[in-house]
Amino acid sequence: MTLSSAPGKVYLFGEHAVVYGEPAVPCAIERRARVEVRRRDDDKLRVHAEDLSLDGFTVEYGGQTDDRPDVDVSEGLIDAAMGYVDGAIDQVRDATGEDEVGFDVTIESDIPLGAGLGSSAAVVVAAIDAASRELGVTLERDEIARRAFETEYEVQDGQASRADTFCSATGGAVRVEGDDCRSIEAPDLPIVVGFDGGAGDTGALVAGVRALREEYEFAGDTVEAIGDVVRNGEDVLATGDLEELGRLMNFNHGLLSALGVSSRSLDAMVWAARDAGAYGAKLTGAGGGGCIVALDPTDATETALKFTPGCEDAFRAELAEEGVKRLE
Ligand code: PMV
Repeated sequence: MTLSSAPGKVYLFGEHAVVYGEPAVPCAIERRARVEVRRRDDDKLRVHAEDLSLDGFTVEYGGQTDDRPDVDVSEGLIDAAMGYVDGAIDQVRDATGEDEVGFDVTIESDIPLGAGLGSSAAVVVAAIDAASRELGVTLERDEIARRAFETEYEVQDGQASRADTFCSATGGAVRVEGDDCRSIEAPDLPIVVGFDGGAGDTGALVAGVRALREEYEFAGDTVEAIGDVVRNGEDVLATGDLEELGRLMNFNHGLLSALGVSSRSLDAMVWAARDAGAYGAKLTGAGGGGCIVALDPTDATETALKFTPGCEDAFRAELAEEGVKRLE
């Protein structure tokens, strides 16, 4: 039996603009998916998943795709969970040359699902690492990141950037520009996350920004302005000036709002954080619903968020220095 974990992430800067070649800076957080893998005697795949959403649910199925689990969650969610694990296992079969191998896979995650925190990337990264080690092969982090990206790319019909999977595999703060991903220095950030209990439709939100950009030149300028904020943010990250970092995050949120990807609940949480004295706050990920990220070393933001209508959960999240972790 092997057990690996991998972290989720927040975007400090640059989501959406990264689709058009601007840089982005995601940062891994200590909220993890843990994947336990046991080799089977046959070629079947059995997945037992818990806590894939905040409410938690259990999915168990035998075989690859035809055996439907009997649980009270949307089929889309189950398809997604199954698709990611199937894809990760295919990558492991490919990496190890063991085409006929089957596994029992148990997933446990404390990352809200589909809320801009990279939950699927964390599951895929941990699954690839655990399953390949179960076959006696330890893959380099770069290869895990690449294979996890390929899995997401396939499951999400080409709508995936390398940011989530690279960040989850390597940990820390990361700079992504096109296909170029690298780790960058970051101070210990006082990250607070607010979650509205929902999730945005990434594909529709990305399409919305694309349409705006085609219609209005100033929407294109807004995307470029986000790129400028990111470049400033990278420099400030190196100095550790949290006040300036927060101001730039506020700027980034305003530009994302202008592109139509915020929502009432995300804005409410962002303002609650700012009113509570956070250095800055912005939505993280595709938007439309899901999570915000704020910087506040005190408890004020977390407390304020807990009393904010529309906020379902708020928590502090340490920066995850380590990406994929080999636990057993
Ligand atoms: O919501 P997430 O964590 O999947 O992030 C989406 C980020 C976008 O920039 C909107 C899309 C992308 O693939 O980069």
